[in-house]
Amino acid sequence: MEPEKKINRIRLLLVDDEADFRKTLAKRLQKRGITAHQAGNGEECLALLSENPMDVVVMDVKMPGMSGIEALHLIKKAYGETEVILMTGHAATQDGVEGIKSGAYDYLTKPVEFDHLLRKIVQAYDKIVGRKQKKEAAEFKARIKQQMIATERLAALGTLAAGVAHEINNPLAIIKEAAGYLSSLIKKDELADMPRREVFEKALEKIDTSVKRARTITHQLLGNVRKTESILAEVDVEQLVEETIQLVNREAKDRDISVVLQRIGDPTTIWVDPNQIRQVMINLLSNAIHATPGGGRISVDLKSAGSGVSIAVIDTGSGIPKENLNKIFEPFFSTKSPGEGTGLGLFVIREIMDKLGGTIDVESRLGHGTQFTVQVPNQREA
Ligand SMILES: Nc1ncnc2c1ncn2[C@@H]1O[C@H](COP(=O)(O)OP(=O)(O)OP(=O)(O)O)[C@@H](O)[C@H]1O
Ligand SMILES: [Mg+2]
Repeated sequence: MEPEKKINRIRLLLVDDEADFRKTLAKRLQKRGITAHQAGNGEECLALLSENPMDVVVMDVKMPGMSGIEALHLIKKAYGETEVILMTGHAATQDGVEGIKSGAYDYLTKPVEFDHLLRKIVQAYDKIVGRKQKKEAAEFKARIKQQMIATERLAALGTLAAGVAHEINNPLAIIKEAAGYLSSLIKKDELADMPRREVFEKALEKIDTSVKRARTITHQLLGNVRKTESILAEVDVEQLVEETIQLVNREAKDRDISVVLQRIGDPTTIWVDPNQIRQVMINLLSNAIHATPGGGRISVDLKSAGSGVSIAVIDTGSGIPKENLNKIFEPFFSTKSPGEGTGLGLFVIREIMDKLGGTIDVESRLGHGTQFTVQVPNQREA
């Protein structure tokens, strides 16, 4: 930071009962770029502080009414961030020492040497800035740590989910097989007169539907989480996105929702596994369609970003409540009823994007809509 600019920023308050002294000092400070506020005693000083936060207070110790030391105590109690520089009489260094014990930044004996005072003001301000930066750095570190914990947790959940899916596949196959066998059995002539046959048939149907649903889940998990090798091709992303829009268009049309593709700027041909992008697009589009009321509009904005592409799916739907924003990527987090959503769509996208070295971001305004943006890097640099 340039020293000139820094000085301009300092919010300074001069407190002294000698008006002439105060005014002269303020004038000299003004010449150096600091506009000082002024107060004639401790009470005035506190009243001013309650309205205007200050960085540095330069204050006389000996004042009628509240002493500088008393005022210092109150300032430090109420405005811990503010630094106080005391001015003591020539023979009263004891006051200064006591002031420092009570939290003053420093003390100067009167008559004060102007440049010395100015240096002290700047140093006190630097202390505040340093403290602020340290606090910000600590907050940043805490945030990153939080994020890392969340990412690790997600990765662990993913592994767990894939493991469970794998284990469940076998018993599922057996259930399906057994249910199929029973269905074929009760169709046989010898069981034509079976009592309460429809009840059995209904129950078997239920088993069949549920098995199908469970298999959709396990396939999603295993297909996308476990699969490591991808098949790269040179893909015209615009065309691919157009195709996926066609795939969901029927559902969109049924709900009177229009889906519009917009390519901005350069052509977007990159090396990537088309299946992965298709999966990402279908999951994003179907979420957007589910969230958007009839008559609404979804736009897909496509543009090249570096050597890769950026795809944004913007809907005019319900939006996502703040408290859900960091949960939506977790496996099985869904606000839909069990028949409508498994809560795997975004999780799978996140996994794919991680694998591709890309990113997915979300911005949402409740009641207005949501924008998901994926950045897909080119998988084979030209
Ligand atoms: N475009 C969107 N607008 C509003 N909410 C959304 C949007 N996309 C996702 N969500 C919220 O995030 C949740 C998780 O989405 P995700 O795609 O992972 O699962 P799902 O859509 O519920 O189920 P499925 O596994 O069938 O995709 C949704 O249930 C919904 O609450
Ligand atoms: Mg979904």
